Amino acid sequence: MSSTAVIGLQWGDEAKGKIVDLLTDRHDVVVRYQGGNNAGHTVVFNGQTYKLSLLPVGTLRPSITSVIATGVVINPQALLSEIEQLRSRGIPVGENLLISDRAHVIFPYHIVEEAVLEDSRGVNAIGTTRRGIGTCYRDKAGRSHAIRIGDLYHPDTFRARLEEIVGQKNILLKALAPKTQPLDAAKIADEYLGYAAALKVHVADTTSYLHKALAAGKRLLFEGAQGSLLDLDHGTFPYVTSSSSSGCGIHSGSGVPERNISRMIGVVKAYTTRVGGGPFPTELNNEIGQHIRDVGREYGTVTGRPRRCGWFDAVAAGYGARISGVDCLSIMLLDVLSQLDQISICTAYEIDGERTTDFPSQVEDLARARPVYRTLPGWKRDVSTLRRLADFPAEARAYLDSLAELIGKPVEIVSVGPDREQTVFCKS
Ligand code: GDP
Ligand code: IMO
Ligand code: MG
Repeated sequence: MSSTAVIGLQWGDEAKGKIVDLLTDRHDVVVRYQGGNNAGHTVVFNGQTYKLSLLPVGTLRPSITSVIATGVVINPQALLSEIEQLRSRGIPVGENLLISDRAHVIFPYHIVEEAVLEDSRGVNAIGTTRRGIGTCYRDKAGRSHAIRIGDLYHPDTFRARLEEIVGQKNILLKALAPKTQPLDAAKIADEYLGYAAALKVHVADTTSYLHKALAAGKRLLFEGAQGSLLDLDHGTFPYVTSSSSSGCGIHSGSGVPERNISRMIGVVKAYTTRVGGGPFPTELNNEIGQHIRDVGREYGTVTGRPRRCGWFDAVAAGYGARISGVDCLSIMLLDVLSQLDQISICTAYEIDGERTTDFPSQVEDLARARPVYRTLPGWKRDVSTLRRLADFPAEARAYLDSLAELIGKPVEIVSVGPDREQTVFCKS
């Protein structure tokens, strides 16, 4: 058994894309199993930067099979344009990409409805990526308004169902936002049947494919999107995404039981970031937060929004590690902290005078949590060119040791820059 999962333990953007890319050559199949084009995974090699949203990172290597499994919600237009972008950069995307016929489809009304709902929340907006992710997952759970990829290949029933759904959505949207223009079902159906034709070569029963691949001894690499603290069930609800973005989602999203995975890698930044709304106890609304944002180029891959930045929160990441069941840690963007005199780690929260290392289940409690910090000296040296842990300044090693101790998992990978090369494997 040598399948691996890469899971973010914070609020997303932990640099999962870099780790998936690094591990791809030791695997045969890369699987995205939840989320959609709300994700933005960056890979840098040979001086080139690639930003992948719906396509698994494995798509960058044509010898690998990439699977968009059942738990992903698919905007076919976005997917086709991403495929086109890769092709225009000389990366072929052909039968090496498989898309689940059970995956649900994002339609224009999902995007319009999400915008209306977000706008109506005012200061309490979730701060979504406005890609129709949550509204599509809601329709999946509700079933009556859901359309799956496989349905697109039955044009007559698809047209009839879409007409019914769009009729109901138009009534709903008019009630919520009277100025919304009604959507035209026939036009959407024509458009989506066109996308379906273009994607047909990729569409498959991916669950069956993955089981056959396992039986044939192939090594699967599961590429998590978002992060454990954005998990619909276990994250900072309602400031979460609408899928199981912790390790919990692997089984349901791919159809592959977790017992087939021999190594779960938890990816964390050496500090914390968050995009969108919701409490963030270690947030730094000061010059240190701005310094981290500037040095780490902390602007959203998908929306370009500035990311909120703060100290490493071991209570939050430790909780992420426990719910995801990770075996080890990959600590990313350590280089970003190199110029700081002192670096703090949140080891506990104080809520209403009580000290706790439990991650609160209610956002109101998390919003009142005051971080208890352990402060370590900075290393004040560029680490981006180092490739062996033994060469790291003692302060940097002490910082990594603290993170491992507080989370209770060993550090296996340390990243000191965006490039593939800027990586230290602590244990092979
Ligand atoms: P993902 O969504 O988890 O794949 O992460 P993103 O791609 O959204 O954000 C991570 C960002 O950090 C990207 O711009 C990466 O190129 C960059 N990055 C990855 N590892 C490192 C690192 O070790 N140091 C620095 N400075 N940047 C990194
Ligand atoms: P990757 O895979 C960081 C956040 C949004 C918002 C919340 C809900 O690149 O780590 P949604 O559009 O999913 O309904 O938005 O989740 N969010 C992410 N934050 N990284 C991501 O993906 C994210 N995907 C969604 O900012 O707060
Ligand atoms: Mg990202």
